[in-house]
This record gives sequence, structure tokens and C-alpha cells, in this order.
Amino acid sequence: MPSQIFRDDILTGQVALVTGGGSGIGAAIARELVRCGAQVVIASRKQDRIDAAAAGLSAELGAEVVGMVCDIRDREAVKALVDGIMERFGRLDILVNNGGGQFLSPAFMIRDKGWDAVIQTNLTGTWNLTRAVADAWMLDHGGRVVNITMLTRRGFPGMAHSVAARAGVEAMTKTLAVEWAPFGISLNCVQPGIILSSGMKNYPNWEQFVDQTQREIPVKRLGSTADIAHMVAYLAGPGGDYITGQVLTVDGGRDLWGETWPLEDPEVMPGIEVPVEPWEESKEPAEAE
Ligand SMILES: NC(=O)c1ccc[n+]([C@@H]2O[C@H](COP(=O)([O-])OP(=O)(O)OC[C@H]3O[C@@H](n4cnc5c(N)ncnc54)[C@H](OP(=O)(O)O)[C@@H]3O)[C@@H](O)[C@H]2O)c1
Repeated sequence: MPSQIFRDDILTGQVALVTGGGSGIGAAIARELVRCGAQVVIASRKQDRIDAAAAGLSAELGAEVVGMVCDIRDREAVKALVDGIMERFGRLDILVNNGGGQFLSPAFMIRDKGWDAVIQTNLTGTWNLTRAVADAWMLDHGGRVVNITMLTRRGFPGMAHSVAARAGVEAMTKTLAVEWAPFGISLNCVQPGIILSSGMKNYPNWEQFVDQTQREIPVKRLGSTADIAHMVAYLAGPGGDYITGQVLTVDGGRDLWGETWPLEDPEVMPGIEVPVEPWEESKEPAEAE
């Protein structure tokens, strides 16, 4: 099936790396970039999973999608991945930092090990890839980096570690967009709202969460993985030529409305007392206006 939005040659001749490209949002991004003509490499930690995903995408799309193993936290592994792509294809034009994840937890229950793992994956892992790809190709030839983050504007109760990491990625993206503009590198972030992807099933009570959450999204549905993939392809292709350092939210209006973390009211709500300064007390209402 061709892209529903883009011409099939807008990325012809370009090589793209999608981390976490074997599942969920990453697989949808890989699929869309292939449909736009790119040679796509997907990478994640588990050999069997990435092999199965690469074989599945290749068969579906009738184009070779290459799977490579890499833990983005491991700088040696990241370098080996990028070197492997350069050896095989000789260029690396598009990097999509999508691989990542977290666990849902109230902040007071997050242990040091859990905090460190989430920061290493989502913040340092993104830097590791970005730096390695810049060194190997982009600082000399330019390129596009798209970082998949999450809704960070209002914080994210239940994911203190991940929202801190993603906000860090967004700040890094804005910074590099300025520093690396002279090298022809543009970098942007895409913030998915609540997306129905395989990753969703990792969370306890996910069906209940989905049911509750879609009521709280103005467009009254969760996002699809294709919703995110279309934005990434737009930024990677000619549509993104003049866009850099931006954070694009794809969330059906979720960020503007609703709560996913209900807070119970106390049994007796505090009384409401409007504070009045001593010099205001004696004023008549008309004067006070
Ligand atoms: N779904 C949503 O609603 C949503 C919303 C906001 C943001 N996001 C973010 O979007 C991205 C994709 O999410 P998804 O929903 O598609 O979930 P997913 O299917 O769990 O995708 C995460 C991918 O990242 C890979 N990965 C995890 N840790 C890695 C590491 N250290 N090194 C290399 N690869 C690693 C995983 O593969 P292996 O485990 O095999 O390594 C997997 O393919 C994630 O960063 C997620 O946090 C998702």
C-alpha cells in the first residue's frame, strides 16, 4: 500500500535509521519512510525481535528493511551500529530516535536504578545516537534528526523519570538546531499523545486506561501509530526543509484538556477566603474596583 499522504519518491536515495523500529510507533515510522522511498534500517536490543520485524516489514513492503541489534545506552554498540550502516550504505541522512520506554510509577516509589535506566535510555541514548550519526555523516553532509518524546509541557504524573528525560531531549534538540544549522542538520521533536501501540500493553490495566483516556481527548480517540509516522515523514522530507528546533505535538488536543491522574478531594474541602489587604477592608465595593 502506498503512503496515504506523500509521493513515493520524496526520500529516494536517502538512508534512514529508526531506533525501536521493530514495534509500535517505530515500525509505523519505518513503514512510512520506506513508502516514501528511503532505505530503512531498524535497530533495537533483541536479535530475534528485530530480525522478525525486519523480515515482516520487508515482505509487506516489497523492499529490504535491514534489522540491526543495538542497545542505545551502550556507546560502543551505538558506534558499531552507525559504522555498520556506513559500511553497508555509505551514508545516513535521517535519524529517528524513537527507541525508548519507561515504567509507570508514582515518583516516590521510583528506585535509583529505575531512574538511572530511564534517563540513560531516553536522554543519554538519544544523545549517543545523535552524536554518533553526526560524527559519522551529518556534520559533513547535513541530515535530519527527529526525536520522539512525549507530552512534557504540563509534566507527566506517573512518569517523572521519563518526562524529565524527554524535556531534556527537547532542550537538547533546540540547542543543537542552532549549533548545527551551519552544518545543514535540522533537528525536531514529535510529541505523541496517547497512541494505541503495542507498547501500551506493557502497562497494568491498560484497557481501563485507554477507555478513560479517550474520553479526555478532545477528538475522542487515541492516536494511531500512523498519525506519528506521517509527522515524522513530513519533517524528514521536503516539507521539513525550513523547520528546525521545534517540538510538534500530535495528540488530538490532549495536551490542552483532561487529566490522566485523578486526585481525590479531601473529605472536607478547605474553606475559601478571599484575601483582603488591611487598607482594602474599609473600602466600599465601588471604590475597591
Ligand atoms: N505509545 C504511546 O502512547 C507513546 C506516547 C508518548 C511517547 N511514546 C514513546 O514513543 C516511543 C515508541 O513507543 P511505542 O509505543 O511504539 O512502544 P514500544 O513498542 O515499546 O517501542 C519501544 C521500542 O524501543 C526499543 N527499545 C527500548 N529500549 C531500547 C534500548 N535501550 N535500545 C534500543 N532499543 C530500545 C524496543 O525494542 P526492544 O525492547 O526489543 O529493545 C521497542 O522496539 C517510545 O520512546 C515511547 O516511550 C509512546
